Amino acid sequence: MDFGCGTGRDLEILAKRFDCVGVDLHPGLVDYAHRVRPGLDIRTGDMRTVRLRRHMDAVTCLGNSLAYLYDNDEISQAFTTFAVHARPDALLVLCSPVAPVIRPEPARAVVGTPEGPARVTIDYEWDLRTQVNTMHRRRVLASGVVAQDEIRRRVLFPRELEH
Ligand SMILES: C[S@@+](CC[C@H](N)C(=O)[O-])C[C@H]1O[C@@H](n2cnc3c(N)ncnc32)[C@H](O)[C@@H]1O
Repeated sequence: MDFGCGTGRDLEILAKRFDCVGVDLHPGLVDYAHRVRPGLDIRTGDMRTVRLRRHMDAVTCLGNSLAYLYDNDEISQAFTTFAVHARPDALLVLCSPVAPVIRPEPARAVVGTPEGPARVTIDYEWDLRTQVNTMHRRRVLASGVVAQDEIRRRVLFPRELEH
């Protein structure tokens, strides 16, 4: 069972050897997964609340999906979901940040886009109280157009994960 499976990138590999189910919050990503990876069992659902009445030998939550839950109650709910879908002695595999990214200076790079090279600046912010690490990305496209976004990820320290 892969929670927060997105477009099914990892599920496609796992499903070659195992009976797998993927769950993601965003119907658009699930629709895309159905189109590009037909045959995979991918459903729309929220890892805080979904109940599939399936019990698996392994539960995964990869690619930082857990880091998009910010408060402790939501995180506890997700762990309850993982437990509810796990057989005794099941394996839980998480890929989630356990330390913030803190950089004294923004990282700068030039990346290729269909419209030509874009200059990218990446900056990080760390809020110790909320344990949220925010990545700010600013891209200046060849046309001069500026595109910005930010990604907020909740850091779970190792002791919290043990809990
Ligand atoms: C960075 S993507 C990773 C996707 C996939 N695991 C991968 O590695 O390619 C994070 C995913 O978490 C999903 N997500 C966020 N909150 C969720 C929730 N409460 N329940 C289920 N999926 C969630 C998002 O829709 C998104 O697809």
